[in-house]
Amino acid sequence: MPSRRAFLTTGGAAVAALVLPTALGGCSGNGLFVRGGNNSSENSAGTLLRSEAPLPEPFQVPLPILPVLEPVRGEDGTDHYEIVQRAERMEILPGLSTEIWGYNGLFPGPTIVSRRGRRTVVTHRNELTVPVVVHLHGGRTAPEHDGYPTDLILPMGGDHSAHQQHAGASVVGSRDYVYELDQPAATLWYHDHRMDFTGPQVYRGLAGFHLIRDDEEEALPLPRGEREVPLMIADRSFASDGAFQYPSVDPSLNGTPGVTAEYMSGVLGDCILVNGAPWPVLAVSDTRYRFRILNASNARRYRLRLEGGGPFVQIGSDLGLLAEPTAHEAIDIAQAERFDVIIDFSGHDVGDEITMVNDHGRDGTDLVMRFVVTRRESDDSAIPDQLVELERLSEEDVVAERQFVFARGGAEAHGMTLWTVNGEPFSTDAIAARPRLSTVERWTIRALNVEHPFHIHLAPFQVLNTGGKDDAGPYNQGWKDTVNLDNGGQAELLIRFDGYRGRYVLHCHNLEHEDMMMMANFEVV
Ligand code: C2O
Ligand code: CU
Repeated sequence: MPSRRAFLTTGGAAVAALVLPTALGGCSGNGLFVRGGNNSSENSAGTLLRSEAPLPEPFQVPLPILPVLEPVRGEDGTDHYEIVQRAERMEILPGLSTEIWGYNGLFPGPTIVSRRGRRTVVTHRNELTVPVVVHLHGGRTAPEHDGYPTDLILPMGGDHSAHQQHAGASVVGSRDYVYELDQPAATLWYHDHRMDFTGPQVYRGLAGFHLIRDDEEEALPLPRGEREVPLMIADRSFASDGAFQYPSVDPSLNGTPGVTAEYMSGVLGDCILVNGAPWPVLAVSDTRYRFRILNASNARRYRLRLEGGGPFVQIGSDLGLLAEPTAHEAIDIAQAERFDVIIDFSGHDVGDEITMVNDHGRDGTDLVMRFVVTRRESDDSAIPDQLVELERLSEEDVVAERQFVFARGGAEAHGMTLWTVNGEPFSTDAIAARPRLSTVERWTIRALNVEHPFHIHLAPFQVLNTGGKDDAGPYNQGWKDTVNLDNGGQAELLIRFDGYRGRYVLHCHNLEHEDMMMMANFEVV
C-alpha cells in the first residue's frame, strides 16, 4: 500500500540533497537567493531562478494562437480525442532550441473545446520517459478519470519497479479519460498531476486549455472567432543552451523527487511566456476582444494591468460566467485561477500600443505582453448587463464546517520541515474530510508562512469572505475552484459536493508546495 510519499519512504538521500545548500550557507549560482526559502519576492512565495541564456527584448514575437484539437470521431453524443505526450523541440528564445514535453508535442497543448451535454473522451498515450497523470482542472469528473496523483500512465517499455510504490490504479502506455462535463460553459485547463513531480512536469510543458461551451453562453453577443483568445501566462527560466531550467534534485524525474532547498517555497522564472512565447505581441483591430486568462505558473502570482488602455471587464471566473460584468483596473491572479475578460480597443487609434503589465514584478517580470491596434474593423459584439443566472449558495444550506490550515510545519522528514495541510503531509490513505454527496459545507482555509492558492477538485465553491473582511473581495466572484490566500490570510468558502462519490484531492496550487506534500484527500460519501 502506498501510504507515504517518496520523501518519507526513500528518505535519506532525498533529504540530504534538499538540506545541503542551506547547511552550506546558501550560496547559489542562480542569482537571487533568500535564506530559508521564505521569500515574498515579487509578491509570490518562491525564489527567483535567473536564466543563464540571454533573454530577448520584449514585444518582438507574435502571440501564438493555440490550435484547437479536432476529434478523431464523434458518435452517440461522445467526441473522441487522441493526445500523445512526447518530447519536442521548440524555438522559444531566438536562436536557441528548448526541449519541451508537450501534449501532441506542443507547449501549450492543443485546446480542447467541449459542448455541455456531450461526453468527451480523451485517449492519452505516454511516449515520455516518466509516468504521467492527466487532471482536468475545474472538471466535474468521476474519480477514476480525475487524474488522482497515483493513477499513473507508465511509459511504454522500461522498468517500472521504481514506480511501484506509487502504483495506484496505474496502466502502461495509454488510458482513456472520460469527461461527462455536466457543468456550465467555462475555461478549464488540463495539466500533469503526477505524484511528487507535478511541478517539473508542468514546467516542461504539460498544460493546455479545455473550454466548455453551452447554449446560454452562445446566446450572448460576446466577441468570438479570432476575437476570442485564450492566454496562458507562465514564467520560465532558461539554461545557456536554451533548455528549461528547473532545480530538480534529480532531473531525470525518475528518482528522488523535489527541488533543491533554496527553491522549496517555489520556483520563479525570470521570463514571462504567454502561450509559450516570451513577452509576445498581438495585433488587434479597434474592437472588443474576449481573453481567457489563465495563470499556469508554478509559483508566481500576478497583478495584471493595462498600460495605455483598460479596464479589464471581467465576465467569467474559474468555473463559468458571472451574473454581471465587472470592470477592474487591475486583476490579481494566483496560480491556476482563470479570468474571462473583455478588453475594448474601440477607443484607440491605429498604431496605439496597450501593454499588459504585472505590478508585482520587476526587471522584466513586470511585463507580460502587448496589444498593438493595427486596423479598423466593425464590431457587432456587446457586453450585456446581465450575463447568466447565477445560483447563490446560502449559509442556511450548510450541513458541516471544517478548517484547513496550509502551513509549513507539523511534519518533518530527516530534519526538513514539510509543507502540510492541518499539520499532515499527504498520504494516499488518510482522508481529511468525508462530505456527503449533494450537500454544502462551509470551509475556512488559512494560509501561514507564505502565500498559498487553495484548490479543490470536483467541488465548486463560492467565496463568502477573505482576509477577515465581510465580503469576497473583487477577484473572487462567481463559481471558483481556486482561491488566492495571502500569507496569514483566510478565506471562508461555501462548497457544494456534487456529481460523484469517491476520493479526490485538495491542495495548494503552488506546485512546489504540492509536490512537497501540501495535499490532502477528501471522500464524497
Ligand atoms: Cu490544477 Cu489538482 O490541480
Ligand atoms: Cu502553498
